[in-house]
Amino acid sequence: MSLITSDQEREPSILILDFGSQYSELIARRIREINVYSLVVNYLIDVEEIKRINPDGIILSGGPNSVYDSSAPICDENIFNIEIPVLGICYGMQLMVKQKGGLVSPAENKSEYGRAPITLDNESLLLKDIQDNSVMWMSHGDSINKLPENFLKIAHTDNTSHAAISNEKEMLFGVQFHPEVVHSEYGMNVIKNFVLKICKSKANWTTQAFIDESIQKIRDQVGNKKVLLALSGGVDSSTLAFLLHKAIGDQLTCMFIDQGFMRKGEPEFLMNFFDKKFHIRVEYINSRERFIDKLSGVIDPEAKRKIIGTEFIRVFEEESKKLGPFDYLAQGTLYPDVIESAGTNVDPKTGERIAVKIKSHHNVGGLPKDLQFKLVEPLRKLFKDEVRNVGKALGLPDEIIQRHPFPGPGLAIRILGEVNKEKLNCLRDADWIVRDEIKRAGLYNEIWQAFAVLLSVKTVGVMGDKRTYAWPIVLRCVSSEDGMTADWSKIPFEVLEKISDRIVNEVNLVNRVVFDITSKPPGTIEWE
Ligand code: XMP
Repeated sequence: MSLITSDQEREPSILILDFGSQYSELIARRIREINVYSLVVNYLIDVEEIKRINPDGIILSGGPNSVYDSSAPICDENIFNIEIPVLGICYGMQLMVKQKGGLVSPAENKSEYGRAPITLDNESLLLKDIQDNSVMWMSHGDSINKLPENFLKIAHTDNTSHAAISNEKEMLFGVQFHPEVVHSEYGMNVIKNFVLKICKSKANWTTQAFIDESIQKIRDQVGNKKVLLALSGGVDSSTLAFLLHKAIGDQLTCMFIDQGFMRKGEPEFLMNFFDKKFHIRVEYINSRERFIDKLSGVIDPEAKRKIIGTEFIRVFEEESKKLGPFDYLAQGTLYPDVIESAGTNVDPKTGERIAVKIKSHHNVGGLPKDLQFKLVEPLRKLFKDEVRNVGKALGLPDEIIQRHPFPGPGLAIRILGEVNKEKLNCLRDADWIVRDEIKRAGLYNEIWQAFAVLLSVKTVGVMGDKRTYAWPIVLRCVSSEDGMTADWSKIPFEVLEKISDRIVNEVNLVNRVVFDITSKPPGTIEWE
């Protein structure tokens, strides 16, 4: 394992040139699953820069274009001459074929989408140990008509004469299918063959290597200066707190701003855990009154988010001045945010984004420009599942590692209509019962998010001989991979019954529980 020194970033072993595929990130994740460090870069990357990085291999991603579109993204064809193995996937393969002098054209009536068995034609390291007739996942309208010189067809399907191609001499390979998606039976083997056998990358991207390298890098960057971190209790900021504490000890101060919209018991848990148990210095800022006052009379969801976001920054600003001065601000920025904000997916000619992706979080604002901090962002090269692994290795408990995502504005956006203390207490109790019963039923880790929403309308009920007019609670439980799409969870009736019974019996001012059976799209996960 190579440990980086102070001013060196670890360079990726596999470089993925992004042509706008929705799967570029996924390719990187798959490669990292086999402990090889990979990064996604814009397809316009300079060949000289690639030579400097000197990766073991290059992958050209898929993309929505046809290689004959006038606006088709095209990389520098010199990348095929620098003696680094290249694998083109879908659009990436067609581009390689075109640039090497072959012919690609629209597949007449033969667009191929979905699962297709491949038939192996010729031997190649790329398809070593891939079962003949195994199913791969296709999504394309164009096909190869003529191969460039020195290329060989190594597999086909019923509809595609060139499902995989190779030029073993120049170490250039292409697949029409998507090896990175789970529906491709032997897809992972294709990736392993390319990365480990052809590129000969070393599997040294491990959690421990990341931790060791990061600690060294943080120490080199920060020196003996002071660092401030806004702790929310989520897995990213918690992992960051542990990592920084390990690197710089008491030079780290965490600030936990309690805006009053957290779940039952969370502020206490957080302070006990970080401050008391692990002696990580956490400043608890109680701003409950301040936030609730600001929300008085506000019913528009976006206005709520804006007010909470703005107020958060104000509190942060005031308190950091009181506690400071600090030289550095630590942020839990993750790799998907970096890929997006780096404009990897922006067409340089039109300025338009070429991968269609909806952002998964909607936090408002950022820090004001005049709040001068230098940034420490040790997690900026990690995917979420890698952060979890780091957190776990550093000793964070499952309670934090497996915690369901929770929106920044908290329970305030789970009360439809005006937020007040009475409703907050009510929602907090209902939410606690939901989590408690989902955990008791052993479902917590299978579910992406399970929570309660309070509607500010009164429904009629009957208790004893009396009619009641009270709030309904919505139970929302979804399964999802990344929050972008989601399905409602098929919770067993007995569990639903238990949750409903407990909420109407134990929570004041609630007389009805309803279950949300909407998937996303068209619904969203949150109710506002
Ligand atoms: P939606 O409701 O858009 O949510 O389907 C997708 C994911 O984002 C979370 N979410 C938020 N997170 N601030 C956040 O930090 C917000 O304002 C916000 N709104 C939604 C939501 O919980 C889900 O995980």
